[in-house]
Amino acid sequence: MTRDGTIVSMKGIHKTYGEVVALEDANLELRRGEVLGLAGDNGAGKSTLIKCLAGAVEPDRGTILMNGEPVDISTPRVAKDLSIETTFQQLALAENLTVTQNVFLGREDVAGVGGFGVLNKTSMRERAEELLAELEIGVDPEAEVSGLSGGEQQLVAISRTLLSDPKIVIMDEPTSALSVEGADRVLNLIRRMRCRGISILLISHNIEYMKKVADRIQVLHHGRDAGVVDAETATRDKLVSLMISGSRSNEEAESPA
Ligand SMILES: Nc1ncnc2c1ncn2[C@@H]1O[C@H](COP(=O)(O)OP(=O)(O)OP(=O)(O)O)[C@@H](O)[C@H]1O
Ligand SMILES: [Mg+2]
Repeated sequence: MTRDGTIVSMKGIHKTYGEVVALEDANLELRRGEVLGLAGDNGAGKSTLIKCLAGAVEPDRGTILMNGEPVDISTPRVAKDLSIETTFQQLALAENLTVTQNVFLGREDVAGVGGFGVLNKTSMRERAEELLAELEIGVDPEAEVSGLSGGEQQLVAISRTLLSDPKIVIMDEPTSALSVEGADRVLNLIRRMRCRGISILLISHNIEYMKKVADRIQVLHHGRDAGVVDAETATRDKLVSLMISGSRSNEEAESPA
């Protein structure tokens, strides 16, 4: 961590897809133990920006610093090694497997770190049970994912990210298509994660949810920064105007740099 509490700093990130400019000089600063909301209209570049941090997309230009040191997050594996975990906009859960199987899917290596020499069903179930209990997620580890509500599936997807005890968790639209109750459970989980000192980057279209849980909200507009505001004091109108026009008012928006 740097002295000002910044854990991740993304500077001057550019990314084009053919003719499409997804990101143009985008910047982002995530502080230790905060929930940073990332807002913006469809196609503003939110998912592309977080994919650069998750190692899923390589930027054409730009710098990423972690704890003040430059890092090259060329693959998702590198991101995980840097203690960055992600749930993507399209949830990748296996519907016909149980909650426990999903929590461990493709993470056998991570589980090994926790002292499981041989991964057997019992130890995985116990670890999943422990994780779900710690996070107060009321979902049966033995339940098949296909039988869970959308909100419960989202909680399972987030639990998966916590198995490795990450420092940073990125969530792309974790509350989209959820009922009010489902979204509330996800927001509560985010709050509990913050209490554990995890820095969270949260993408959402829902301004109300973001205001409820985020400390600060950064707005992207056409791949550029439109400003960073304090989540508690920023009005809905202010946020919508930043999202739609990208206009910045210097009195209200602090610089992201
Ligand atoms: N793999 C890709 N190939 C081509 N174009 C892409 C790709 N990924 C993103 N884009 C384009 O880049 C721009 C930014 O997309 P991105 O998905 O980052 O936006 P977003 O802010 O996450 O939008 P949404 O709110 O709809 O999820 C869009 O114009 C999109 O069409
Ligand atoms: Mg997106």
